[in-house]
Amino acid sequence: MNLRTSLTIITLALMPQFVVGQTALTGKTMADTCAGCHGTDGVPAVAYIPPLAGLSAEDFSAAMIAYQNGTRRATIMNRIAPAFSETEIAAMAAYFASLPKPEVASSLRTRPEN
Ligand code: HEC
Repeated sequence: MNLRTSLTIITLALMPQFVVGQTALTGKTMADTCAGCHGTDGVPAVAYIPPLAGLSAEDFSAAMIAYQNGTRRATIMNRIAPAFSETEIAAMAAYFASLPKPEVASSLRTRPEN
């Protein structure tokens, strides 16, 4: 195998990562990774996880930043929030704020005060 063939193979092998790396993650794409706990489109299946759908962008961003800097106590979000930049938080905030708030009896939903 000559050098040119080797380089072509290496370039082709790296292309998928290159393309993914170039694509800016949208708010929805990042938000989809939260669905395991917060439910599809930010509506959780269980009452002990807060819904994200319909949360104002300000409240969403404030919560994420507080989880990042440790000013808001958490069991899980303090580990997840640091993965996101300010721009990424803003993109997710806009996405979740655009979704309708779930209509569930408030007695079934408690927003943690921690
Ligand atoms: C493993 C489960 C889990 C995953 C995954 C998860 N969360 Fe959470 N989230 C929680 C829990 C539990 C809380 C309550 C605070 C705590 O104890 O961490 C919470 C609280 C929040 C809150 C505060 C909501 C409010 O009304 O005050 C925000 C905002 C939030 N999560 C955003 C996200 C985002 C964005 C993602 C995805 C990038 C995500 N979460 C992924 C479990 C999860």
